[in-house]
Amino acid sequence: MRAPLDLAAVEAMDAADPLRAMRDRFILPQGVIYLDGNSLGAAAPAVFNELQKAATQEWGQDLIRAWNTAGWFDMPVALGDQLGRLIGAASGQTVVCDTTSINIYKVLHAALGMRSNRSVIVAEGDSFPTDLYMAEGVASTRPGTVLRLEGVDAPTIEELIDERVAVILVNHVNYKTGQLRDMAALTCKAHQVGALIVWDLCHTAGALPVELDAANADFAIGCTYKYLNGGPGAPAFIYAAKRHHDDVHQPLSGWWGHARPFAFEQSYTAGSGIRRFLCGTQPVLSMRALKGALDIWDDVDMAAVRKKSIALTDLFIQLVEARCGAYGLELEGPRNGDERGSQVSFLHPHGYQVMRALIERGVIGDFRAPSTIRFGFTPLYVGYRDVWQAVEVLEDILRTGAWQEARFAVKTAVT
Ligand SMILES: Cc1ncc(COP(=O)(O)O)c(C=O)c1O
Repeated sequence: MRAPLDLAAVEAMDAADPLRAMRDRFILPQGVIYLDGNSLGAAAPAVFNELQKAATQEWGQDLIRAWNTAGWFDMPVALGDQLGRLIGAASGQTVVCDTTSINIYKVLHAALGMRSNRSVIVAEGDSFPTDLYMAEGVASTRPGTVLRLEGVDAPTIEELIDERVAVILVNHVNYKTGQLRDMAALTCKAHQVGALIVWDLCHTAGALPVELDAANADFAIGCTYKYLNGGPGAPAFIYAAKRHHDDVHQPLSGWWGHARPFAFEQSYTAGSGIRRFLCGTQPVLSMRALKGALDIWDDVDMAAVRKKSIALTDLFIQLVEARCGAYGLELEGPRNGDERGSQVSFLHPHGYQVMRALIERGVIGDFRAPSTIRFGFTPLYVGYRDVWQAVEVLEDILRTGAWQEARFAVKTAVT
C-alpha cells in the first residue's frame, strides 16, 4: 500500500477504519500518543470494573467462598480457553498462569524430557534475553545439554536444526526488529528431524492472527500485558498441543498441577490435561483484570486487526522516511508488511536521547540498547492521525536538534 502523505487523506483512513470504535474502550491520557502497547498495553474501564467486582464483592463479601462461588479456582483454564481463540488453539490446550519466564522454564524442561536421547536446545542469539537465561537454566539441569544460537553458531536457525536437537525455542516476532517468522514452515522443519518447538508469542498474541493448531505447534508461551492489555504484571500463558498432554512432565510440580489437589497427598501425581502446567496459587486480582481485557476481544475480527496493523506500520515507515530521512534514521526491521509484527524500529546513533525527547513531547515509544528506537502500534487504540502526529513531533525534534539538550543525555530507566 502507498500511504497518502497529506493529513486529510490520513484522516480519511481513520474515518474508514472498521476498528475505530474500539479506541473508546480504552483510557488514553490527554496529550499522549501511545506507541508502546508492545511493552505495556493501555488500561480499559472494563478491566477496572472486573477488578472492582473481584475485590469488593467477591473478596470483600464472599471471602474464601469465592474460590468456588466466583470460579477463581477454574480461572486459569477458563481464561486460557478465552485467550486460545486469539492464538488458534482449540479449547483445553491453553492455561493462564505465572510469568512468561517461569512458563518458558516449565515448557522447555518438559520438552527436553520428551526427547531424553537428544542434547541440543536451539534458540536465537538476539532473542529477548529472559528466553536465553531460562534456556541456560534448563540446560544446566541436565549435564551434557548444549544451547546453540542463531547468529552465533550458524547464521540462520534452520541451519541449526538436525537430529541432535531436542527442542527449539523461537520468537514468532522479534522484540527488537519486529521480524515475523513463518510458524508453519519452521514447525514443519523441526518435526522433520523429530525435534519439538516452543513458540514465544509475547509480541504476537493480540497483535496479529496466530494459528497454533493449524501450524501443528508443540508448545507456546507468551505474556498478556502487551497487546492483550491485561495490565502491569498480568499473568502469562502456556499452550500445549493436546497430543502431548499425557507425555509431558513439567518440573515445577506444585499442588495446583496435582491430579487431586485437595486430597493433600504426600507425593505428586500430575493432573490431566493442560492443568498439569499449573504450579501454585494464582494472582486472582490480576486474573480478573485480564478477564476484563480479554472480554474486549469478543467483538474483534483478527483479520481486521492484522490489516490495520500493516497499514499503520506502513504509513509510519513511509512518513518517517519521507520527512525524517535526512536525520540519520535507518529502518531496522522488515520493509515488507507481511514479514512484520505490529511494531517498527529505527536505528539512530543517539536513539536514547531522541526517545527521551519524544516522550517529553507526549509521543511514548521506547529505546532498546544500543541504538534502537521502537514504536508499537496497537490496532485497537492507535489511529492513523496518531501516526501522522507522532512523525510531526519526531521531525521537529530531529530538525531542531532538540534531542541534544543536556537533560536528555542523563540515563534514567526507560519504559
Ligand atoms: C519475547 C519476550 N519474552 C519474554 C518477556 C518477558 O517475560 P516476563 O513476563 O517473565 O518478564 C518479554 C518481555 O518484554 C518478551 O518480549
